[in-house]
Amino acid sequence: MSDLVTRLRQAGCVFAEEEAAILYSAAADTADLERLVARRVSGEPLEHVVGWAEFAGLRIPVAPGVFVPRRRTELVARVAARLAPASGTVVDLCCGAGAIGVAIATWREDLTVIAADIDPVAVELARRTLEPLGGTALVSDMDASLPPALAGRAHVVASCPPYVPTRQIALMPPEARHYEPRVALDGGKDGARMQARVFKAAARLLAPGGACVVETSEHLVGTTLAAASEAGFTAWIEKDEDRGATAVFARLRSTHSNA
Ligand SMILES: C[S@@+](CC[C@H](N)C(=O)[O-])C[C@H]1O[C@@H](n2cnc3c(N)ncnc32)[C@H](O)[C@@H]1O
Repeated sequence: MSDLVTRLRQAGCVFAEEEAAILYSAAADTADLERLVARRVSGEPLEHVVGWAEFAGLRIPVAPGVFVPRRRTELVARVAARLAPASGTVVDLCCGAGAIGVAIATWREDLTVIAADIDPVAVELARRTLEPLGGTALVSDMDASLPPALAGRAHVVASCPPYVPTRQIALMPPEARHYEPRVALDGGKDGARMQARVFKAAARLLAPGGACVVETSEHLVGTTLAAASEAGFTAWIEKDEDRGATAVFARLRSTHSNA
């Protein structure tokens, strides 16, 4: 085990001891362990190597080529679960591997959770995890392919869309740049292009009084609030200082029509 820790440390893994223990327990045998370690040492994210990411105390299945859920996104899931009325419907837009929707469906068995993403590989992962919890996942460009009957009927839309300004993608750690798809990162010129699309989709999906919770960053939060307002919402900031997480929580203004 100490050799393994040394190799991981030399490869730049900050949490080498924890990673060694995870790789060790993920490996079927010594040859498998060597294969997993070689992938990790070459820079592949630990979560892709072992096939799961920890999120809200759950193991979310992930696979190469799919965005790795971040712990800070637990804030969006927590706020959405808190806001959803009994037996309500929650839509996880830009769901990736489904972390937000899976956490909500785990905590709140009374809710109906529908998740959607443009990436079919991510949707397949989300579907496999959500269906046993009574939820579903669909391939959709925002809300374009969601069932038309859902329009105006959802109670909460929760989302962690791509929000890295295009020019800052080059500054991201290699694990993200090389192993996560650009479509999962690129928030357009100012970073808020996909967030604005989420708020517009949420305005179509939500019932009167419905809420939308969207992850953002400290730098971007003013632009995110403006995008919410533009789409017909009154919006507030939610923070989790421990995780360095920022989200915008918004309610449709009563004068707004989702036509
Ligand atoms: C930052 S990742 C977050 C994924 C997931 N919400 C999570 O927290 O793990 C953004 C996700 O948005 C998806 N996405 C990008 N453009 C989209 C679009 N037009 N419609 C739906 N999903 C989209 C990507 O495929 C990616 O899975």
